Amino acid sequence: MRARDEFTCIRRFITVIHMQTTLTPAQDTTRRAPPIHPVWLRVTHWLNALAALIMMFSGWRIYDASPIFRGFVIPPSITLGGWLGGALQWHFAAMWLLVFNGIAYLALNLASGRFRMKFFPLSPRAVLRDLLAALTGKLSHTNLEQYNAVQKLAYLVVVIDLMVLVLSGLAIWKSVQFPLLRELMGGYDNARIVHFCAMAVMAAFVVVHVAMVALVPRSFLTMLRGR
Ligand code: HEM
Repeated sequence: MRARDEFTCIRRFITVIHMQTTLTPAQDTTRRAPPIHPVWLRVTHWLNALAALIMMFSGWRIYDASPIFRGFVIPPSITLGGWLGGALQWHFAAMWLLVFNGIAYLALNLASGRFRMKFFPLSPRAVLRDLLAALTGKLSHTNLEQYNAVQKLAYLVVVIDLMVLVLSGLAIWKSVQFPLLRELMGGYDNARIVHFCAMAVMAAFVVVHVAMVALVPRSFLTMLRGR
């Protein structure tokens, strides 16, 4: 009886080994495919989103203390920090997170070759084609492994926009120490306008981005779990 049990056990073991070596990846449920978004991408994305949102809401409070555009202030109820000093603390704290996390995101994307693979090739024709398809409800969302041309463009724009935000912020914060940067921004006052406009581009991106994610909730799960 004991010998039969052992024999059955060995047979099952051999069957499993055989299945694992002969099944195609599609048939094999014991092996897991690599994640759509690697863990480092997910971590840097969510840290980046947190830092960027803290910077935007606290930045609005800082703007209100000395508005650039006469008569235009942001309702204090939707700002962060409570008062100018508090908002500056939030803004500077999140700035370090945004900068170091942003460097990690870019470095890992470039070093792994993911940046070229995910965002290129990209052409105006493809953007127009996918934009038209999206507006007429014909854009397919079945393959989450590939970004469509509109997504590629939007993500590239927001990455560049965040760099402009950081550089114009540096020109405002340390305008004496970085005279070249200040002059490239068109002077101190102009750097404030550049900073504000870049913030407006990011705010518009966030509204559209979150709306798009809500339309395809599976993409949200993928950015959380990787699959
Ligand atoms: C300031 C805020 C944000 C910025 C700057 C931002 C930026 C980005 C970028 C650049 C990507 C592409 C990443 C890559 O593949 O390298 C991305 C993807 C994604 N983001 Fe955000 N994001 C922000 C906020 C959010 C929020 C609040 C959500 C959730 C509601 C979200 C959900 C996603 C999802 C689900 C994807 C993957 C889309 C897909 O696979 O189709 N993001 N985001």
